Amino acid sequence: MGDYAIRAMEARDRLEVAELVCLSTNYWYQAHGHPPIFTAGPATTTFHFDVYHALPGSSGIVAEDSATGRLIGSCFRHIRPTHVSLGIMNVHPNHFGRGVAGALLRSILATAEELGRPVRLVSSGMNLDSYSLYTRAGFVPRCAYQDMFVAVPAGGVGVSLGGGGRVREARPDDVARMAALEMEISGIRREGDYGHFIENPEGVWHVTVMESPRGGLDGFLVSCAHPGCNMVGPGVMRTDDACAALLAAELDRHRGRSPVFLLPVEHNNLVRQVYGWGGRNCEMHFSQVRGAFTPYRGINMPTFMPETG
Ligand SMILES: CC(C)(COP(=O)(O)OP(=O)(O)OC[C@H]1O[C@@H](n2cnc3c(N)ncnc32)[C@H](O)[C@@H]1OP(=O)(O)O)[C@@H](O)C(=O)NCCC(=O)NCCS
Repeated sequence: MGDYAIRAMEARDRLEVAELVCLSTNYWYQAHGHPPIFTAGPATTTFHFDVYHALPGSSGIVAEDSATGRLIGSCFRHIRPTHVSLGIMNVHPNHFGRGVAGALLRSILATAEELGRPVRLVSSGMNLDSYSLYTRAGFVPRCAYQDMFVAVPAGGVGVSLGGGGRVREARPDDVARMAALEMEISGIRREGDYGHFIENPEGVWHVTVMESPRGGLDGFLVSCAHPGCNMVGPGVMRTDDACAALLAAELDRHRGRSPVFLLPVEHNNLVRQVYGWGGRNCEMHFSQVRGAFTPYRGINMPTFMPETG
């Protein structure tokens, strides 16, 4: 095997990165007996490149094979005010086990170390290749999540929790209160993401907030309806009840679809409530942190797009 070089992802890489994200992810899942993740093909995984080049502080790096000039690895990187997030990591299956992912990871860790910030990510509990990659590099699993989906009927989710009239669509002036709540619950900040979701330039995001009777917010929840990513999250909430009300409100926006969302396994009452709505488990994930970590003081619902562990 020849050499490869790590370099910044550029605009000309967009379609090749989309091919790599789709092929590498689907190959890994199918090789391990699971259905493919990106069923609509690489035309939909351009979404990852596009979002990671639209959110403030986001970019990517690639591994380019020196002999062929082909991209054999890619990873997204998101520099946020409190930390660095590592977005989806992909290596071409022909080049698995060659140290490509390790080289991409070292590059992102070097950036984070220069900035003096921790690195955070969400990794699959079914994928020991990526779990090992990250824990060997010093990441610590901090919270386990069960990935669930609900097939939302065309007539709506049929659950009305209402939140006592405190649940409503987010407005641009909610960004500061969303940031304050996530700092309190998860110890991280990312106002740029919230502003982007509420502005919604791609036409795929939606944000619901729950006001607190004491002022501020008791929770917020985002969702994404794109063929390359149909997820509910990210979001944070003070209580299980706030989470259930926000989840019911966001699921109702996905009539006729089956969006996936991550619930922390220790919130068993919430999980059981979602089973009552027809919820099914489809995977497990861990939020992993390398560096300083503050235990969650509430509920954190992460996503992989963008990475929000
Ligand atoms: C996960 C993935 C990125 C790994 O890429 P890769 O280039 O083959 O990984 P590397 O060759 O850099 O090796 C990863 C490290 O994990 C180690 N490792 C792998 N399996 C291990 C195990 N079961 N126990 C302990 N260590 C293990 C390897 O030894 C290596 O460590 P080292 O470099 O210190 O020896 C690749 O399989 C992939 O793209 N999968 C599909 C997409 C995916 O799952 N992405 C991750 C989502 S976040």
